[in-house]
Amino acid sequence: MQGASRSSLVGRLHAPMNQLRARAPWSRRSVDSSESARGVAAAGVSAPEQTNIPALATLEGRNVSAWFGERQVLDRVSLTMPAGVITSLIGPSGCGKSTFLRILNRMHELVPSASLAGEVLLDGEDIYNAERKLVDARKSIGMVFQKPNPFPSMSIYDNVIAGLTLTGTRASSAEKDYLVESCLTKAGLWKEVRDRLRSPGSGLSGGQQQRLCIARSLAVTPRILLMDEPCSALDPTSTRVIEETMLELAQEVTIVIVTHNMQQAQRVSQNCAFFLAAQGTPGGIVEHGPTDAMFGDPIDSRTADYVNGRFG
Ligand SMILES: Nc1ncnc2c1ncn2[C@@H]1O[C@H](COP(=O)(O)OP(=O)(O)OP(=O)(O)O)[C@@H](O)[C@H]1O
Ligand SMILES: [Mg+2]
Repeated sequence: MQGASRSSLVGRLHAPMNQLRARAPWSRRSVDSSESARGVAAAGVSAPEQTNIPALATLEGRNVSAWFGERQVLDRVSLTMPAGVITSLIGPSGCGKSTFLRILNRMHELVPSASLAGEVLLDGEDIYNAERKLVDARKSIGMVFQKPNPFPSMSIYDNVIAGLTLTGTRASSAEKDYLVESCLTKAGLWKEVRDRLRSPGSGLSGGQQQRLCIARSLAVTPRILLMDEPCSALDPTSTRVIEETMLELAQEVTIVIVTHNMQQAQRVSQNCAFFLAAQGTPGGIVEHGPTDAMFGDPIDSRTADYVNGRFG
């Protein structure tokens, strides 16, 4: 599906920013990927006296197509998700948003019948390059799912640092303590759990569990954070806390969020892509660009119908 493109407008923000938005980096940071490419991508654990924040990264999908068996579900989707910008993916159920998100961190290939075509570039480097390790892509590009999925038998503390073991990162006790506190703080959960770090993660509320999962993702210093409907199982208060957390995190990690909540897309994202799959055809992007323009002055009538709740 070929769609109207607003890509020339990407990064140009012209609507009034609310208080939360004013704290985010896009008001003062270029979205030119060359800026982030100059930084040092330091992965691993910080010593307590150091800060170790990787440079913001740009993620780009180029002509991404996907199949489950013989059935094609995405057709040549191209989208740039600029450094430091929160990009929302919207569209009706079944149009391929989650599939696209999973392709962005090499999870699609875990499905036995699944195949794909196209490229995914992290600061210009294809994450599917045969010379790159799968674990590197997963480490650089974290994922938070719709249903909070902390490891149920692990403590809050161990949940946060679980990714270190999975990625083979070594850390001293002091480094782990620092990491747990800093990631829980960034995820907006530290004050609520600091007195019960050794209690099971499964004992937290749904909203707290989701923030624990965000903290767990942050512990391996990802450069991109993919979030697939992270608030759809949460109450409005928890949703608000997660949204505030996202706006804070956008200063150090590029966020891509799938949401069915149009208000949420407008509250948290600066760029937006509208996916659609016409009956019996694979999904694609109809239109993408600055969220304010997508909602306020869409190019395509299908976008207008969707963002105004006339279908989907
Ligand atoms: N594991 C799978 N095996 C076969 N088909 C699948 C699989 N996962 C998804 N699909 C199909 O791929 C298409 C895209 O699904 P996807 O989950 O990406 O949609 P979505 O836009 O995320 O929908 P929703 O908003 O409901 O989450 C759908 O037709 C779906 O049935
Ligand atoms: Mg989905």
